[in-house]
Amino acid sequence: MKKTFAFHTYGCQMNVRESEAAARALLDAGYTQAADEASADIVIVNSCSVRAKAEDKALGKLGLLCASKRERPGRVVGVMGCMAQRMGDELFRRLPRLDFAIGTRCAERVAPAVEAALHGEATLALRGLHETPDAPSGHVTDGGFSAFVTILLGCNRRCTYCIVPDVRGDEWSRPAREVLCEVRALAEAGVREVTLLGQSIMNYGLRTPAFDESDPPSPGGYRLPFPRLLEAVAAIPGIERIRFTSGHPSGVTDELIRLYREEPKLCHHLHLPVQSGSTAVLSRMRRGYTREQYLEAVAKLRAAVPDIAVTTDVIVGFPGETEADFEETRTLMGAAGFDNAFIFKYSPRPGTVSATWEDDVSEEEKARRNQILLGDQDVRGAILNQKLVGTTQAVLAEGPSLRNKARWSGRTSSNKIVVFTPPEGLKPGDTVALTITRAAPQTLYAE
Ligand code: 5AD
Ligand code: SF4
Repeated sequence: MKKTFAFHTYGCQMNVRESEAAARALLDAGYTQAADEASADIVIVNSCSVRAKAEDKALGKLGLLCASKRERPGRVVGVMGCMAQRMGDELFRRLPRLDFAIGTRCAERVAPAVEAALHGEATLALRGLHETPDAPSGHVTDGGFSAFVTILLGCNRRCTYCIVPDVRGDEWSRPAREVLCEVRALAEAGVREVTLLGQSIMNYGLRTPAFDESDPPSPGGYRLPFPRLLEAVAAIPGIERIRFTSGHPSGVTDELIRLYREEPKLCHHLHLPVQSGSTAVLSRMRRGYTREQYLEAVAKLRAAVPDIAVTTDVIVGFPGETEADFEETRTLMGAAGFDNAFIFKYSPRPGTVSATWEDDVSEEEKARRNQILLGDQDVRGAILNQKLVGTTQAVLAEGPSLRNKARWSGRTSSNKIVVFTPPEGLKPGDTVALTITRAAPQTLYAE
């Protein structure tokens, strides 16, 4: 009997992509995907370190999985990703039954670690943060029409609250040639939509260590500015939609705006994390823009591309955030008119600059600010969605909706979910023109 595996993935899309690459390697090594986690012989937790809560969840999960080995002695339990990178050795002290811990940037070590675990050997694999990382390779495309493609690894921005540079290492762009080959292969396997991933994705092409001496690190297929890469991806036959995440206002250039207007494959959505609406807080966060610069980037974008959806991330309760700072975040969110927003309570991360400052906004106050912004966003989302009633949208069909199998769900170019009755013969990955008949804060409906 082939051993079965399951992944439990926390954190961002980058992690989803890396779990997939590790799954591909396990499939290639002869393991099979388990029907569910409970029955799996091998369970791998892909972890996130961005907030303490994300780590607590992964540690709790790992504790339960390791305990399950008492009844199932042959079971393999491993951890990969950001928390594995951050905690390393310590994980084995906390979880004596753990079989392996594999850091970021070396997902290709997961399959050998599983093999070793089946022979009773534990593995700890970490890659130096300044070493050239391996890009996650291998997709599991069977029947899927949408795929993630990591184009930029690591981050050099060093926002004062952020653990990412410490767990994902130096920023590094994958060679354009390699990215384009990957997208071409995905298109040939039936993928219609690609989401390009990178922490500071608009820095794409800035830092590409020459790993092939014969190929000079200059334009011409080796590295390209981000908008050029978008164009090159758009030129690949079969690809119908291109998304990317995450943005930074400095990357909202005339070039990018021109592409949003002229390149029909580029989806009209931008995830542009703002973090705070107060210039004083932004400066302490070391975000590299002011409130005004951020709003200007959004205004420029909306003026040129009126139907673009802009979504964001916000942190409440950053050290020293006053009621007035918070009010500025509130008004910025109104002025930017975000289509969606993810609100996080500040969590000090060991080793970051802001963790040396007093975490002086109380937990209750963070919760209160969080609730207020969520409430505002619900109202704003409902109003924005209401405006779409009566419009016709190109919807990429994803398949039967979770709640009601007779209805399907899909997404607009602006990344809004549409629930609709599927026309005869519709296949996942097909695009249909639908007239929106009803709107809820998070969902659109069409007949
Ligand atoms: N505390 C709370 N939220 C954080 N984020 C990043 N670091 C922290 C932290 N220390 C949020 C940011 C980022 C998102 C992925 O997580 O909003 O955009
Ligand atoms: Fe979490 Fe950040 Fe790592 Fe993604 S990169 S898994 S959000 S810590």
